[in-house]
Amino acid sequence: MPESTDFGFRKVPLADKQTLVDDVFASVARRYDLMNDLMSGGLHRAWKDVLVTAVNPPKGDRPFALLDVAGGTGDIAMRVIDAGGAGTRAVVVDVNRAMLDVGRERARERGLDDVVQFTEGNAEALPFAGRSFDAVTIAFGIRNVPRIAQALAEAHRVLRIGGRFLCLEFSSVDVPGLDALYDLYSFNLIPAIGRIVTDDAEAYRYLVESIRRFPKPQAFAEMITAAGFRRVSHRPITGGIVALHSGWRL
Ligand SMILES: C[S@@+](CC[C@H](N)C(=O)[O-])C[C@H]1O[C@@H](n2cnc3c(N)ncnc32)[C@H](O)[C@@H]1O
Repeated sequence: MPESTDFGFRKVPLADKQTLVDDVFASVARRYDLMNDLMSGGLHRAWKDVLVTAVNPPKGDRPFALLDVAGGTGDIAMRVIDAGGAGTRAVVVDVNRAMLDVGRERARERGLDDVVQFTEGNAEALPFAGRSFDAVTIAFGIRNVPRIAQALAEAHRVLRIGGRFLCLEFSSVDVPGLDALYDLYSFNLIPAIGRIVTDDAEAYRYLVESIRRFPKPQAFAEMITAAGFRRVSHRPITGGIVALHSGWRL
């Protein structure tokens, strides 16, 4: 029997998951950023601000290199560039060419193409030398990666000693009342909005289901520790709709 994994609520062979995930993001790439605003009522911007504040890029000329894994259309990378000083640079790595193409176009439009670089690559085998980044981020990406432990080990490998790993991901709502409302919203409204905006309700059904299958915050923190990170912590945001996990390479 081949090893299997979750693809939303379905079980699929581990080797097939990446192709299925790639189909989802190729299908929604052009409307991805608009969908984020519609689905979260703009809240994803506030969640990303929390991540960028934690990255805390230096304001001056001091060199600071960010790697944004599963960085898609470059939203996090460009926010970190905006928050940092003249020495801040960002690399976006993603497996999906369609998402990267949208990101490159955005960076060019904003005159950021010399400070944000877009690279095709897999979180499970990052195409970078060890100890080459000051911070590694991954936002709403890790739950799509088939071998999460492998991706965490890679994030650890490419961080310099003293560097910080930050992961923003949908989590488990822990506020009574909000959980039922959130279920109703995510299983009914999100696929419907997805159908109207991207003509792909299935893609958004997968995204909602994959959130429910993702490990609980404490279990995910233990996976980060197992990858070699130290001082691992996590905190819920917006009643646990999202969690920010942090770990240091020491
Ligand atoms: C929900 S999007 C998040 C994009 C971006 N980080 C953001 O917050 O807007 C998930 C991204 O993960 C990427 N992805 C999925 N599997 C990946 C893998 N194994 N390695 C790198 N990127 C991956 C997808 O192509 C997609 O761009």
